[in-house]
Amino acid sequence: MKPDPAPAPAQPLPPGVVPGLPLTALAPMQDVTDLAFMRVIAHYGAPDFFFTEFFRVHPQSTPEKHILRSIDENSTGRPVFAQLIGEDLGHLARTVRELLRHPVAGIDLNLGCPAPKVYKKNVGGGLLREPERIDDILRLLRDLVPGLLTVKMRIGFEDQRHFLRVLELVNEHRVDLLSVHGRTVKEMYRSEVHYDAIAAAVRHVRCPVLANGNIVSAARAADVLATTRAAGVMIGRHAIRNPWIFRQCREQFAGQPVSRVTLAGVREYVGRLYRETTAPGLAERLHVNKMKKYLNFVGQSVDPAGAFLHDMRRTETEAALFAVCDRHLLAEPDREFAPAPFPGVVARPNCETPSAPSDGCSLETITA
Ligand SMILES: Cc1cc2nc3c(=O)[nH]c(=O)nc-3n(C[C@H](O)[C@H](O)[C@H](O)COP(=O)(O)O)c2cc1C
Repeated sequence: MKPDPAPAPAQPLPPGVVPGLPLTALAPMQDVTDLAFMRVIAHYGAPDFFFTEFFRVHPQSTPEKHILRSIDENSTGRPVFAQLIGEDLGHLARTVRELLRHPVAGIDLNLGCPAPKVYKKNVGGGLLREPERIDDILRLLRDLVPGLLTVKMRIGFEDQRHFLRVLELVNEHRVDLLSVHGRTVKEMYRSEVHYDAIAAAVRHVRCPVLANGNIVSAARAADVLATTRAAGVMIGRHAIRNPWIFRQCREQFAGQPVSRVTLAGVREYVGRLYRETTAPGLAERLHVNKMKKYLNFVGQSVDPAGAFLHDMRRTETEAALFAVCDRHLLAEPDREFAPAPFPGVVARPNCETPSAPSDGCSLETITA
């Protein structure tokens, strides 16, 4: 069903890396999409757009300094949208005014975080139960944001009962770009993705839509675009696994051969990630643990038996970690890094096991 003609169309988005191709974006990921990670991704082929991890908005909040760095010190050459999570109108207004003093490409509202601690406060995915509240928030944000206002949403809380209403609100409040993760909040991260719902969003809203969820490779990105008719793709976990994915998407979209990644290339990526995420005062053990969280995703494409993952998870020092990397990645340096995860090789810990903590959208809890 097509909406009535819009009184004011969505504003134009910044041009993509290659104007005319479908868009690509790095999905916002808490504890991942910081300045260091954006730099690393840009080295291998930047997406058209970056999104920060979410700025929390509550009575005591001030924009988190480390997230602001990904905006203020952005050297990727690509625009960064600042994502917010919150529901109090006064505090949202205060935060937006503060963020607009920084070089943001736009303001993005999180309507999707599925962590119980978050949705129980009625923010993130919790708001999808209350379209009237979303109406108030989007009205406020549209009044405050002269530039681009964007929304990232799931397709519902436990079902899709309010989905079309939220899409109508996206139109009514002249949202400029909509990213749709094709799962409900209750479906978390591992169910099938409802690409048909993303296709419905594309038909219903006036602004461009980015399709999100399980886009594992450039070939899958092209399939999802064909199925959904979306304007582009947003990729999260599979960009941690394969930072070349945005360049590969552009090659695929342009009908060119898609570059092949070798295990030696992956070894170079791991070294770069380690160097970029080095920070004053970060103890070696903590740094190694942080690397293991990224490598949980990388390991899904190294070998079909998960031997790299098994060995990597047991390391505790920088030397041990890189010895494992050298053994698994440099023994056959020209072997291909699989374009998609090997079946059954899962990144752990798994947020959907009952014992897993779930206090946020965090690498501690989210797997692929
Ligand atoms: C570690 C992690 C942290 C995340 N943090 C956020 C966040 O801050 N804001 C948000 O909108 N989504 C967040 N997400 C969800 C992703 O943006 C994305 O919607 C989801 O991972 C599905 O896309 P993918 O299959 O490409 O990973 C997070 C996901 C992961 C894996």
